[in-house]
Amino acid sequence: MTKTAVITGASSGLGLEFVKLFAKDGYNLVVIARSEEKLLEIKKSYPNINVTVIPKDLSKPDAIKEIVHEMKKHDIKVDVLVNNAGFGLLGSFESLSVEQQLNMIQLNVSSLTELTYHLLPELKKSKSGKILNVASTAAFQPGPNMAVYYATKAFVLSFSEALAEELKEDSITVTTLCPGATKTNFSSVANVGNTKMFSNAMPSEIVAKQGYQALMRGKRVVITGRFNKVGALAAKFLPRQSAAKVAKLVMKEN
Ligand SMILES: NC(=O)c1ccc[n+]([C@@H]2O[C@H](COP(=O)([O-])OP(=O)(O)OC[C@H]3O[C@@H](n4cnc5c(N)ncnc54)[C@H](OP(=O)(O)O)[C@@H]3O)[C@@H](O)[C@H]2O)c1
Repeated sequence: MTKTAVITGASSGLGLEFVKLFAKDGYNLVVIARSEEKLLEIKKSYPNINVTVIPKDLSKPDAIKEIVHEMKKHDIKVDVLVNNAGFGLLGSFESLSVEQQLNMIQLNVSSLTELTYHLLPELKKSKSGKILNVASTAAFQPGPNMAVYYATKAFVLSFSEALAEELKEDSITVTTLCPGATKTNFSSVANVGNTKMFSNAMPSEIVAKQGYQALMRGKRVVITGRFNKVGALAAKFLPRQSAAKVAKLVMKEN
C-alpha cells in the first residue's frame, strides 16, 4: 500500500525539498504551511500521487486540532511525520517583540509537540512509522541575540532524542536533523543573511537529502556539513559560557 508522509513547512526551503524526495519515492503527501497557493502548486506538480493540502498557521493555538480533524475526516493514515516548519529572529531578547518570540515558541516547539502527540497512534499502526524533526546546530549551545530561537531548537533535539528511546520498542524511529546555515528563506525571515554564519550556507537540496537518508536509515541525529559537525562537537566540550560567546561571534554581521 502507498505510504503517506505529513510535512509541515512544505511550501519552501527544506520542506519543499522534502516534498520532492518523498514524491520521488512514491509517497502520498499531506502538505502544511500558510501559503495556500504554493501548496496548491505542489499538488499540481504531482498528479500521480495523492497530495492533501492543509493551509494553516501553526502559530495559532487551535491549528493542530484543526489539522487532525481534517485528516480524520479524510481518513488519512500516516507513515512518516516531518516536523519542519519553523523560523528564527536575530536581535537581543528585549529588542524583539514578545508576541513574535511567543509565536516562535508556539510554532517551533508547541505545534511540533502537539502534532507528534496526535499522530503517534497512527504512526504506531503503520508497520514502519518514522518521525523527522528539524532542529538546528543552534540546539547545541545557548545563542545570544537569537536566545529564544536557540532555546526552541535545544527543546526539539532533547525531546526527539528522548522520544526515540521511548518509541524503540514500538519500532518507530525518531530522527533529528540539525542543519547549520542553509540557503532558504530562513535567512531573510530571521534577518541573518549578513552574518558570518551565513557567509557559507549549504544548498537546501543537499541538507534535505542528508536528512531524508538519515530518516530512512532510522538514524537518531544528523548534523549536516563537516564544519557544523566540528562546531557541535566543540560545543559539547566547551564550558557553556564560552560556547555562548562563540555563538554570539558567528551571529555578528560581516
Ligand atoms: N535555513 C537554515 O539556515 C536553517 C538552519 C537550521 C535549521 N533550520 C530549520 O529548518 C526548518 C525549515 O526552514 P527553512 O530553512 O526551510 O526556511 P524557510 O524557507 O523559511 O521555510 C520555512 C517553512 O515553514 C513554514 N512556516 C513558517 N511559519 C509558519 C507558520 N506560522 N505556520 C505554518 N507554517 C509556517 C513556511 O511556510 P509559509 O510561509 O507558507 O507558512 C515554510 O514552508 C525550520 O525549522 C528552521 O528553523 C533552518
